[in-house]
Amino acid sequence: MTQSKPDLKVGLIGTGFMGKAHAFGYVNAAQVFDLPVTAVLHRVADIDLAAAEAAARAFGFAHASADWHDIVADPDVGIVSITAPNALHKDMALAAIAAGKHVYCEKPLAPLAADAQDMASAAEKRGVLTQVGFNYLCNPMLRLAREMIAGGELGEIRGYRGLHAEDYMADAAGPFTFRHDPRGGGALADLGSHALATAEFLLGPITAVMGDLVTVISERDDGRGGRRRVEVDDIGRAFLRFGNGASGSVEGNWVATGRKMQHDFEVHGSKGALAFSQERFNELHFYATGDAPGRQGFRRIEAAPAHPPYGRFCVAPGHQIGFNDLKTIEVAGFLDAIATGGAEPFGFRAGLRIQTLVEEIKRSAQDRCWREVPGP
Ligand SMILES: NC(=O)c1ccc[n+]([C@@H]2O[C@H](COP(=O)([O-])OP(=O)(O)OC[C@H]3O[C@@H](n4cnc5c(N)ncnc54)[C@H](O)[C@@H]3O)[C@@H](O)[C@H]2O)c1
Repeated sequence: MTQSKPDLKVGLIGTGFMGKAHAFGYVNAAQVFDLPVTAVLHRVADIDLAAAEAAARAFGFAHASADWHDIVADPDVGIVSITAPNALHKDMALAAIAAGKHVYCEKPLAPLAADAQDMASAAEKRGVLTQVGFNYLCNPMLRLAREMIAGGELGEIRGYRGLHAEDYMADAAGPFTFRHDPRGGGALADLGSHALATAEFLLGPITAVMGDLVTVISERDDGRGGRRRVEVDDIGRAFLRFGNGASGSVEGNWVATGRKMQHDFEVHGSKGALAFSQERFNELHFYATGDAPGRQGFRRIEAAPAHPPYGRFCVAPGHQIGFNDLKTIEVAGFLDAIATGGAEPFGFRAGLRIQTLVEEIKRSAQDRCWREVPGP
């Protein structure tokens, strides 16, 4: 006789790009993974009621509303997904935590590291689990890269170059958005946070930073017939030193004309190198210095069932998984942690670490000097 799995009722706040990705994640995680819990789409809220109702119809949420407090107040909701603008994350997360819900919040976790600290501490005190949306880390090829680095296949790691560049803010005629809000906005926080998370995922702790932030488009249409000054960075870069002795750099850039998803990195070691591009994220390129002269070059490793959990999605190598599948892997990891009492794959404390790095880079850019970063 098969045992029925307990239900975990989901409340989703925000129904835009990430709201849809979270909803897909919950639905697909149940199909793709054998989870010890069944996520049930229960309540969805969006400040735009029509959007909430449309999302409820499309994904099968039982209830829709324009007020996110309805989700927090519902005793049946066990997990809250926050996919609203950055500046709202803290209030929403703290309210959900106080109500005893597990919380899955999009990055950047909060406007300031002090806010992220409050959020992480509140969750730990209340005994709820948390997750931050650093979905690129869920890519089987990133996990392979980490394994290869840790296993010594690249030898001593000397250099790292990472970036996350897109061009969705490159048009100066584009409006002022929540991403320009000084409370949590800017390219470094928005995109550079992903690049920093990947850098530490692969190489371990960053110990010092030297930042440079630039605002390229200094004012934008405020949507009410006026102009609004932009105070946040369009490009945020930093030189890095890692605890393992490697030196490196990262860049967060949303005015990188022509680039749609350049979450890329290179790692250079004494015995080999890795190169990766998110625009072709089912591939990892590996260069081995041990290859025979005349046969050297980067070889392309294609994602395959040998790289878990790729095989959960597809039994055949080279057929590729997609962006929403990364979200599905992220959701599955979090649901599994909740059901089994295991460690969260990337909880609020990990999100706080990224926020701290962002802030140290900003301070360093302001002061025009290197800053030591305390350990995670
Ligand atoms: N992990 C990733 O890869 C990734 C990618 C894109 C965005 N994000 C993050 O996800 C979050 C949302 O970004 P997005 O691209 O989905 O934005 P979006 O504009 O597409 O969606 C935001 C949604 O929040 C709703 N909203 C605004 N105020 C609200 C309120 N008070 N109550 C309820 N709903 C409200 C909006 O109506 C909209 O539907 C941001 O924090 C962003 O940084 C993460």
